Amino acid sequence: MPNFKRTLITAALPYANGPLHIGHLAGCYLPADLYARYKRLAGEQVLFICGSDEHGVPITISADKEKVSPQDIVDRFHNLNKASFEKLGISFDYYARTTSPVHRETSQEFFLTLHNGGFLVPREEPQLYDEQAKMFLPDRYVEGTCPVCSNPNARGDQCENCGTYLSQTELINPRSKVTGSIPVVRPAKHWFFALSRFQKELETYIESHRNEWKENVLQAARSWLKSGLHDRPITRDLTWGVPVPLPDAEGKVLYVWFDAPIGYISATKEATADWKKWWQDDTTQWITFLGKDNIVFHTILFPAMLLAHNEATDKLPLTLGEGGVRGHYILPENVPANEWMNLEGEKFSKSRGFTVELHEIAERYPADVIRYAFATMIPEQKDSDFQWKEFQARANNELADIFGNFANRVLTFASKHFENKIMGNRKELDAEGQVLLDGFGVRAKEIADFYERFRLRDATAATMDLARSANKYFNDAGPWKLIKEDKASAAQVIRSCLEALRALAIYFAPITPNASTSILKTLGANASEENWSNAHEPKLHGQTELGPIEILFPKIEDETVTEEIKRLETMAERSRDLQVTVAKQEASQTPSAKADGYISIEDFKKIKLRTAKILEAERVPKSKKLIKLQIVLGEEKRQIVAGIGEKFTPEELIGKTIVVVANLQPAKLMGQESNGMLLAVNDESGAVSLITSDREAASGLEVR
Ligand code: 2FM
Ligand code: ZN
Repeated sequence: MPNFKRTLITAALPYANGPLHIGHLAGCYLPADLYARYKRLAGEQVLFICGSDEHGVPITISADKEKVSPQDIVDRFHNLNKASFEKLGISFDYYARTTSPVHRETSQEFFLTLHNGGFLVPREEPQLYDEQAKMFLPDRYVEGTCPVCSNPNARGDQCENCGTYLSQTELINPRSKVTGSIPVVRPAKHWFFALSRFQKELETYIESHRNEWKENVLQAARSWLKSGLHDRPITRDLTWGVPVPLPDAEGKVLYVWFDAPIGYISATKEATADWKKWWQDDTTQWITFLGKDNIVFHTILFPAMLLAHNEATDKLPLTLGEGGVRGHYILPENVPANEWMNLEGEKFSKSRGFTVELHEIAERYPADVIRYAFATMIPEQKDSDFQWKEFQARANNELADIFGNFANRVLTFASKHFENKIMGNRKELDAEGQVLLDGFGVRAKEIADFYERFRLRDATAATMDLARSANKYFNDAGPWKLIKEDKASAAQVIRSCLEALRALAIYFAPITPNASTSILKTLGANASEENWSNAHEPKLHGQTELGPIEILFPKIEDETVTEEIKRLETMAERSRDLQVTVAKQEASQTPSAKADGYISIEDFKKIKLRTAKILEAERVPKSKKLIKLQIVLGEEKRQIVAGIGEKFTPEELIGKTIVVVANLQPAKLMGQESNGMLLAVNDESGAVSLITSDREAASGLEVR
């Protein structure tokens, strides 16, 4: 790090709109933490900043849905996410919130500076207005038919079906999500940021980093630049957010992507009075970690905002500068964005419940185990796939069996044969032991280089290799034989092993901080005094009594992993059932029906409920929940699949007369065609009763 005196590390501020999942950990927060911990260990000055992004429309939509205030939503998820990070040992120096007064002030100052500098210009554009709610509708408050693929439920900003980015006025048959009414088009005033003016400067900036930045990051930035930068509206008609600090902007707030990155600066202000040192000094390098969906905001939009701020303050009279020196913001020095992590071969889906949330995993496994396993799976070059079996294998066969085992066998040996003390002299290691530690010194430099180049998977693998070589040394030296023949040599070997263990604890500290602290304590060393570059130099004090031996990494049982996989499968099945029902319900609802919760008799008549008799029943292979039924509906025979397999055996279903939704669009559940839906009730205790007829009824009768 030749020209920099310190490193500012930021990790994308997560929306306080829901729990984070393990994909976020692997893609952003763990990489940032590994890097931050490595840097501190290397003796460098670091400030590691994150916090909750508490604005934006999804938050107000969640609040509306739950009938609580947006503040309730962000309080809940800020606390939950912050606690998860703490449990997982993510070592932020400061974790902020974008609803703080300092953030509001900083964002408003930023806006005004850009405004006064001529970088924010008001413009009128057509926008959808809900006359019943008397409000302009932000993009996500509008739904309608996608002009590209005809998906009837496209959002005002994007169609999730075909992925097309839309503007709300392009939607066919738009409807307001607030009242269900049909909005009208009205001109609305918004402030546009003059992004197009930074085309050249940003091209130069991006290309100046072409040798260090990751290919995926360069590509994303270049493709935006290639299609030409356009001015973008950075205000919204909403009450939740940072108010636009102008007299003629009542009811308008800053667009969340305008204020969120300013959150990095406001958080730093809250963290330290010395904030300018971190933001306005060319000897600071700023490294910003994020997932790939955030790349353009950090390589194009926010850098342009910072450049605009710099230019705008240049035009101010000199007296406004600090001690004659203008406060110029630095731009990101690197943006090591990762790709996605998938979950057991599928995409994470919050709405389907197909996810593993951070607070859940943090409750079930030790932080170090999670950290190590995920460090081996970071989606650095391409998407990765999280599999519970691999998680178990990494935890058991590597972390426990290699690193944990080395610690355990060395400490146990010392306890058994050397009165639980560190023997001998650090200057008199056996020759092979010295070779081992010298090798550590050389390889630690390579690992440092991996960290510096954000190759964290390689850093993790190479660190585990050090533990492998320590085990090999122990095996080759065979202290259990030596102790019988030559106790002094055995003592030397164990001394070398203890020195190696100390070094390993330091090298592993970014990955498994808890185990590292505990090992160092056992060895009578102090974690806060250790340093990456001289970790391989022997330094333990002879005759030190060793502390108690702890199980560092408990193994994960097969049953535990089976449970985890089952949990996900159940989620996936349940959501498939649910999806079919919800899709049908939504298709049969008119906008006004959605608004007040009632349906008309015409709507009800659209649902054909019929009695049906079950002829055959069998379980769907590989599914605990699903049962395949052959039913007869009057004259017609059909197959339906129902999620009642945990409550009924196929045998007890045969011969029953049930009620089915006969005109439900056919769907496939785990590869099986389902042509209709059986009705059942589910009470709070989990008991399920089928809706049947209280008298023997013929099949195919209409239920009214
Ligand atoms: O994608 C997200 O979760 C955003 N809340 C990230 C914001 S990063 C920064 F700019 F604050
Ligand atoms: Zn579409």
